[in-house]
Amino acid sequence: MRILGIETSCDETGIAIYDSEQGLLADALHSQVALHADYGGVVPELASRDHVRKTLPLIRKTLSDAGCAAGDIDGVAFTAGPGLVGALLVGCAIGRGLAWAWDVPAVEVHHMEGHLLAPLLEDDAPDFPFVALLVSGGHTLLVGVKGVGEYEILGDTLDDAAGEAFDKTAKLLGLDYPGGPALARLAERGDPRRFHFPRPMTNRPGLDFSFSGLKTFAVNTASENGDDPQTRADIARAFQDALVDTLLIKCRRALKQTGMHRLVMAGGVSANRALRERLQAAAKKEGFRVYYPRPAFCTDNGAMIAFAGALRLAAGERIDLAFNGRPRWPLDTLGAPGQAV
Ligand code: KG4
Ligand code: ZN
Repeated sequence: MRILGIETSCDETGIAIYDSEQGLLADALHSQVALHADYGGVVPELASRDHVRKTLPLIRKTLSDAGCAAGDIDGVAFTAGPGLVGALLVGCAIGRGLAWAWDVPAVEVHHMEGHLLAPLLEDDAPDFPFVALLVSGGHTLLVGVKGVGEYEILGDTLDDAAGEAFDKTAKLLGLDYPGGPALARLAERGDPRRFHFPRPMTNRPGLDFSFSGLKTFAVNTASENGDDPQTRADIARAFQDALVDTLLIKCRRALKQTGMHRLVMAGGVSANRALRERLQAAAKKEGFRVYYPRPAFCTDNGAMIAFAGALRLAAGERIDLAFNGRPRWPLDTLGAPGQAV
């Protein structure tokens, strides 16, 4: 089964073709970073319009990269949520439209399920069950995963998501959007001993997170110590260390609570090198295994949507593609309001 995947939930147009026998055949991404850079963040209306411009050309390119014709596609998967509504609608409309035109089934994919299953695209894929740490721009979730679609939310953030905390703190440090990777680069030059930030909510039981205090801590540290380049790097380092440490403490707790020994990490922040190294080192020492996607599949991409969609389509899941337009609609069948047939 060959599935076309379409991701348009935020500021990246991601397209991929996944074949259930041969694996990933092609994937392509168009990032809107340059488009939003002047505004310091994603402008939803600009995002939607850019998806409108880019989605179909990118689908053509991906089909050609995969050596496929439209007739070779057996199903369409598109991100239906969560995300920016205007951006989502572009993928939904194109996905439904193509499936209808090609006379193949379509399925809606949950963006976070896409992230969660992305590590299964790698050669060294985890078996079920596992604990998943999902860290993206909009979500921070710890999930107990027994199988595809069998998800128990173990922990959530009470305020900012991990990626959001990275982005907001980066902005405070004068870094350009998107701030997460830029802050991570700055942190590499920082002195880990100069400042110590708190590890929020780690000294009480539970698996929830709260990251908004870290950015306040960063602001206060900057106002007390100045913002020369080295101080900014030291603040970035202290922030990243605190966030990574907090995530590790909660992951360890989730593994213990569930009795599981596999940890899967996905979403944009899982591309963070310090986080990957820290979890890897802990896993080795403490006897659990950690899995994550290649960096390009940590952030938003079409491959994870094609893959999640392929699993659901293979199990028979599909949406109704009926359009509600009525080419023939006799006026005298309307009935009084509320009594239409
Ligand atoms: O999963 P994703 O691409 O989009 C959402 O679903 O939100 O995640 C984007 C988030 C942004 O907040 C971005 O700053 C963060 O992931 N991010 C990083 C890194 N790469 C992306 N944060 C820290 N270090 C990175 N290397
Ligand atoms: Zn995402």
